Amino acid sequence: MNEHCTLPDVAKSTPAPAKDDRAPALIDPFGRKITYIRVSVTDRCDFRCVYCMSEDMEFLPKRDLLSLEELNRLCGAFIARGTRKLRITGGEPLVRRNIMSLFRNLSQHLATGALEELTLTTNGSQLAQFAHELADCGVRRVNVSLDTRDPEKFHAITRRGDLDQVLAGIDAAQKAGLSIKLNMVALKGVNEDEIIPMMTWAHGRGMDLTMIEVMPLGAIETERLDQYLALDVVRAKIAERFSLTDLADRTGGPARYVRIEETGGRLGFITPLSHNFCESCNRVRVTCTGTLYMCLGQEDAADLRAPLRASSTDELLHAALEEAISRKPKGHDFVIDRGHQAPAVPRHMSVTGG
Ligand code: 5AD
Ligand code: SF4
Repeated sequence: MNEHCTLPDVAKSTPAPAKDDRAPALIDPFGRKITYIRVSVTDRCDFRCVYCMSEDMEFLPKRDLLSLEELNRLCGAFIARGTRKLRITGGEPLVRRNIMSLFRNLSQHLATGALEELTLTTNGSQLAQFAHELADCGVRRVNVSLDTRDPEKFHAITRRGDLDQVLAGIDAAQKAGLSIKLNMVALKGVNEDEIIPMMTWAHGRGMDLTMIEVMPLGAIETERLDQYLALDVVRAKIAERFSLTDLADRTGGPARYVRIEETGGRLGFITPLSHNFCESCNRVRVTCTGTLYMCLGQEDAADLRAPLRASSTDELLHAALEEAISRKPKGHDFVIDRGHQAPAVPRHMSVTGG
């Protein structure tokens, strides 16, 4: 039985100690200000995408997870230190029991203006149920992972997903007024042919599309090199048929965007392997167990769960945050080639947060 059932409802957010109002921003040794956090609320997912998970994933025991109340405190501490954008991720965040109570609590920071944006990354399977409530909590945009619009291929890539359910989720989200960005992992020989149709479909429905290169995260059954499709090749193919205009929009994140003149839509490229983007990195990630990773591609981490659990006020937590950010590395060292077939880091994307 799901142990989350025993979790108490999220209590009213703990008032931050007065000193937090003046708490200094978190700035790393390279002068990068941390304004964006991604917080994974579960390592579980109702899918098992071939590039993300192994078929027989072992998930974390529930007691290791931060409670929704702890997640709320943690996010509050980051916001007090200058975080302006907060993305909830997983695993699949919407499969976590009672997750809407966290969104509801976090929405208070939107109301005060302390937080500029609250978003999530989802596989879309539960969006039909939650889209309306998310919009009501002040969520304006969601990232939905969609690698193919072919039902059989979809089932094969996700190992258990139902395409129709995800498409219904996308419909519901748009109806609820949410902007959607689709994330499509480029998989050699699998969805290569679908990139242009996906783009014209997405743009026709007012959605952005971002292509992602496969990253060497966690052990999976397939060889990474067999999946890896370099996006500069994809871009060149698209450029044969469409006019691409580079956009300056840099969100501090890894994506580079172009405007497709013929569709009027935006297309993003996340190219961790063929193009390094670390110099402008403004983000850190927190796992569902409260481990802070200062970089997606490095092992160094800080435990925030111990300071969270050691005291009901946030002094220890703030000290741990400061110490951790002082160790944020300059960048990742991803390589996929014949000499580097092992994962760069052993943890799966679903652990660190997609
Ligand atoms: N490489 C690239 N993208 C990945 N995702 C999950 N695992 C990987 C990986 N190893 C993608 C998901 C989702 C996004 C958050 O990350 O498909 O779209
Ligand atoms: Fe789940 Fe997303 Fe991983 Fe797929 S990529 S298994 S949807 S967490």
